[in-house]
Amino acid sequence: MITIKVFESYDEMSAYAAEIVKEVINSTEKPVIGLATGTSPIGLYEKLIEMYKNNQVDFSQVTSINLDEYVGLPDDHPQSYHYFMNEYLFKHINIKKENVFVPNGIADDMEQECKDYDRRLRDLGYADIQILGIGANGHIGFNEPNVNMNTNTNICNLTPETIKANSRFFDSIDEVPKQGITLGLEGIFKAKKIVLVANGFSKAEVCKSFADEYVTTQVPASLLKLHKDIVVCLDKEAASLL
Ligand code: GLP
Repeated sequence: MITIKVFESYDEMSAYAAEIVKEVINSTEKPVIGLATGTSPIGLYEKLIEMYKNNQVDFSQVTSINLDEYVGLPDDHPQSYHYFMNEYLFKHINIKKENVFVPNGIADDMEQECKDYDRRLRDLGYADIQILGIGANGHIGFNEPNVNMNTNTNICNLTPETIKANSRFFDSIDEVPKQGITLGLEGIFKAKKIVLVANGFSKAEVCKSFADEYVTTQVPASLLKLHKDIVVCLDKEAASLL
């Protein structure tokens, strides 16, 4: 079932989403949290850090498993998702290093990395909660619009729209990796709960698909309506076309 919540501001949206994540962590013995990158969840991570500092949440028993990574970027590249997670969350909280998983974008054998990542997720029993953002073209993780979508962790070619959108973080568009490694639909859908955050007018068009009655792999996020427990948190700009 999908629940759509609209907030006056990015800050309120982030606070609400963080509250959901906190409740899952606090009510689960060994919580498994699926994490996402992108600018959308930065506020949510800031709220979680604040909660941690105020002793409202403890990450010592948490295992995190990230959605995706660029293919070809080493962990210490400032635009890698390893680096992002460390900067915006991990280095501020008491999560154990050995309980943090982000796909390896520079593995010698990327096919094997995909298989190992799926096995790890299965062994962990899938996420208790999966945090998601959304691409302006509807991608989730790096699962891009396509006729066929992959159920497993996979290597995907980024669309020109995504390369262009993500080029804002690189010195030039030529530096943006052309491929990503991403959880597939199964890894995302097996999460017990999903919380998706989206903000700003650039997401308004795609967010319409949360409110209509259709699903299409041309807008991967539209499939999320089929999940049994998803909360979509939007600021009023992202919700402006609903
Ligand atoms: C990237 C990530 C996605 C993210 C999306 C939106 O391509 N792979 O996981 O949801 O961008 O990013 P932003 O939140 O910065 O708009």
